[in-house]
Amino acid sequence: MGKIVDYNLTEEIAHGIYVSRLAREVARELNMPKEEEECIAKAGLLHDIGKLRLASYLYADIRPGSPLVVEEMKYVRMHPVLSSQTLKNYGMDEDVCRIIRHHHENYDGSGYPEGLSGDSIPMGAKIIRVCDVYAALTSDRPYRSRFSEEEAMALMIDEISCFDLCVFLAFERVVHRVGTSYKVDIPDSDEELCPALAARNKRPYVRYARWKPSHGYTEMSPEGGQSMST
Ligand SMILES: [Fe+2]
Repeated sequence: MGKIVDYNLTEEIAHGIYVSRLAREVARELNMPKEEEECIAKAGLLHDIGKLRLASYLYADIRPGSPLVVEEMKYVRMHPVLSSQTLKNYGMDEDVCRIIRHHHENYDGSGYPEGLSGDSIPMGAKIIRVCDVYAALTSDRPYRSRFSEEEAMALMIDEISCFDLCVFLAFERVVHRVGTSYKVDIPDSDEELCPALAARNKRPYVRYARWKPSHGYTEMSPEGGQSMST
């Protein structure tokens, strides 16, 4: 068994942009005021920033049956509050922080951190919830390939009690228009911008580099037997 959370900054940023674009579109579909649309778009971009504070706890390899799985789940469930607190400390708009704090609440009360239900959940948080789930399902994960637009929608309909129906219907109209075209792919290495680094990243046997004052960096094979200077 791998990790419950594989934190990858590039993927997190791409996910934030994807959620933000979808959420803005849903807010427009619902004819929300421009200022609220802006808040929702900002919240979409930054909703998972609290995971940065958890990243160091979440890197350990977890074995099946380990009590750490339960511990780790507990940490993961802290991230909406951490995201909201972090942004509040840096002067982020109160409304944006409130949306982020509640972006994992479910309409039927089964979410977290406070188990809010129905209209006690901020409208922006209900929008982010729907867009977040769709963006995650239509993106590749280390443990599975992405679902198609149709498969993702079917899976979400199975869990419809988690979502505000009015928000979900607006979201469905948006997806009908944009599909998965708002998805963001940030390449790990850009061959056009930096061909030398891109080629270096493709060399599968290089695992780590050591630095010696006299030799510069030395790249090592996984076996440690072969080495070469760069
Ligand atoms: Fe989240």
